[in-house]
Formats: sequence, C-alpha cells, structure tokens
Amino acid sequence: MKDFLSAPRLAELVRICTEMYAHGWDERNGGNVSVLLDGADIDGYIDTKNVLRELPTGFSAPLPEGSLFLVTGTGKYFRNVRYDPADSLGVVRLTDGGKTAQLLWGFTGGGTFTSEFPAHMMSHAARLSVDAENRVVLHCHPDGLLAMTYVHDLDERAFTRTLWQMETECVMVFPEGVNVLPWMLCGTNEIGEATAEKMKTARLVVWAQHGIYGAGRSLDETFGLIETAEKAAGIFLKIAHLPWKQTLKTEDLRRIAAHYGVTPRAGYLD
Ligand code: 13P
Ligand code: ZN
Repeated sequence: MKDFLSAPRLAELVRICTEMYAHGWDERNGGNVSVLLDGADIDGYIDTKNVLRELPTGFSAPLPEGSLFLVTGTGKYFRNVRYDPADSLGVVRLTDGGKTAQLLWGFTGGGTFTSEFPAHMMSHAARLSVDAENRVVLHCHPDGLLAMTYVHDLDERAFTRTLWQMETECVMVFPEGVNVLPWMLCGTNEIGEATAEKMKTARLVVWAQHGIYGAGRSLDETFGLIETAEKAAGIFLKIAHLPWKQTLKTEDLRRIAAHYGVTPRAGYLD
C-alpha cells in the first residue's frame, strides 16, 4: 500500500484548503469541503476492509451505499491543514442507508467530519441529480459576499443581477445565477435540506450572514465559481455608496451571454 498522503486527490484538497485560507475565506475553522471519490482514487492507498471507526451521521444521507468522500474535519483550522492533513481530513464511506460513515483514513486525533456534513451530503445528492459529474461541495466565509447579505436585497434575481453587473465575466461563469437562503441555524439537517433544494437550480448558494456554498465537477471549478462571485461582491461594496455613472445594462449582459453561448437563468434578463 502506498501512503494516502502522497495521493493526488489528497494533495489537491490540501492545496485548495491552503488557498482558501490565503484568500481570507476560512478564518479559524470556518468553512468545509467534501470531495466525492472514485474507488480508483484510493485504490492501492487505503485498505477498504479496514474500518477505523464508525461515525453516526444523524440523518439518512441520500446517496448510494458505499459512496466515498474525502472531507474536512469539524473544528479543524484551514491554516493548519497542510501541516497535518491526516488529522484535519478524513476518508469516509457511507453505509446503513447513509446513517453511518465508516472512517477509512484520517482524523488521526480522534476527530470527525464537519458539522456541516448534512448540507454537504444532501447538496452532493442534489447536484448529482442534475449533473452526474458533480464531485465537489465547498463552503466558506468570504467577506464580500457575506457583507453583501447585510446591505443588499436577498431576492435571488436581484442579488444575481447585481453580481452579474459588477464584472463582464460573471454571467459567463455562473449563468444560472446564485441562490440565496435567509439566515438559518448552521450545522443542522434543516439547513442541509434547504441548501440542497437550492442546489438543484444553481451551483452557488449564499447563506445570509454566514457565507456561501459552491458545487462543481472539480475543486478548481468550484473554487473559481466562488472566487468570481466574491470578486463581484467586492466590487459592489467598493462602489455601492458612490454615485454610479454607468453600469453593465441588461442588454449588455444578454450580448455577453449570446456571444459566449451561455444561457442565463430564465427571467433574470427580462
Ligand atoms: P466545521 O468546523 O464543523 O466544519 O464548521 C465550520 C463552519 O463553517 C460551520 O458553518
Ligand atoms: Zn460556515
């Protein structure tokens, strides 16, 4: 068996956690990430017959029996992930109708998966129902988007249109827009269910006064989605209090979408 610490999937997640921290999106233990693995990702690295611990999930994760995830641990500081990935991260396998996660690797200090495991698992199921290639769910606390939820209308169409107007790239990168949840208590099955419902129509779901969830086929795609939305939010906050002389107009957004062959969310550019 090779050491999983040398596996490409692990290296990729360590790199993303480090980047997320560097971007200021993950103060302390803020944020969490889960990656759906293929058997091939752990083949030769992890003995799948050796279950280290059985971790109750507290809900029935709506995913196929045996689904494998690489996931961040609860309370783990993103700043420290790269120094001890085996303590901060874990590989779990869902069993018992998703009510149990078998720990196959990691959480060496006796830890467990993120407190947002319900939102992650339910969001994976929701995204997989619309895109069979979705593999990543990523949550963080980027300050621009978070700040925007205090001063901007939380209406999804209005919120999306403002972000689209802040940068030409936005409508190309997230043509389906961003969905928004009002403030809810985090770490619960309820916020998990609400997030998953929103994930059926967009890869980005803002949690008002908390942060954002992103989903995608790869860590790079998902990171890039949040990076783009966060950049737009930052521009909005820089100019929100200033008199605007011009902006991207609805017609401009339509032209960008047509030129780049993307379909903006129906009704958002009427
Ligand atoms: P965890 O440390 O349990 O992942 O929680 C961090 C967080 O961002 C909660 O929303
Ligand atoms: Zn959070």
